[in-house]
Amino acid sequence: MEERLQKILSQAGVASRREAERMITDGRVAVNGASVTELGAKADPSRDTITVDGKPVTVDEKRVYVLLNKPVGYVTTLKDPEGRPIVTDLLKGLGVRVFPVGRLDYNTEGLLLLTNDGEWANRLAHPRHEVDKEYLVRIRGTVAREQIVRLEQGVDLEDGKTAPARVALTKQSDNNTWISITIHEGRYRQVRRMCEAVSLSVVRLRRVRYGSLELGELKQGQYRHLTPAEVSALAEGKKTGRRAPSAGRVPSPRPRKT
Ligand code: URA
Repeated sequence: MEERLQKILSQAGVASRREAERMITDGRVAVNGASVTELGAKADPSRDTITVDGKPVTVDEKRVYVLLNKPVGYVTTLKDPEGRPIVTDLLKGLGVRVFPVGRLDYNTEGLLLLTNDGEWANRLAHPRHEVDKEYLVRIRGTVAREQIVRLEQGVDLEDGKTAPARVALTKQSDNNTWISITIHEGRYRQVRRMCEAVSLSVVRLRRVRYGSLELGELKQGQYRHLTPAEVSALAEGKKTGRRAPSAGRVPSPRPRKT
């Protein structure tokens, strides 16, 4: 089926639609060897050879959406100059090339979405979408109420103040405290930097919810396919997931299974 080139490039995960438009007008895109610079141009990925900077663009007809429980010790980039393990190594059986939606640090574990649908991934990652992401954070030592309130209200980082977050104390042991932090921004190492800014030392960081999706009982390193209803609920930005209570509404620490 013929489609506009910028849509094909964005679906293939090459770039967002806007960036793809720039690639076209900059003369970086060719169809069957001929450079195309018009934004209205169409092509049929099942028939035509589309290239960006001379490299062929592959478009998978079948859209795949998976939820992986990422273990610590994997990078979410598709190539690592240091040769560290890559999350897609865990998806070898999938038979389709997918890429992560957003990122998790090498030392962060938990819910990671991967897909070959670039349009869907771009929609979720767009700041306007404001998808809630909930993290369970194990902190060394104790956490003071004042530190929770500061995290909730937003802290000053070098790239600006963070938006208000929902924070709850979930468990306390002799040496550690577990808190849940829900944010909708997705800045680089945001949760770790927020904790550092209020002098909290992060021992373990796990993402347990992304919008309406929960990590659930999925074991580390395992993945599952999303249902069509989950795919469309995320794209529509439905915030149907459980909300972490704010610290102000929690009278006492509430234990949660970890
Ligand atoms: N915040 C972080 O600090 N790291 C992550 O991987 C995700 C959110």
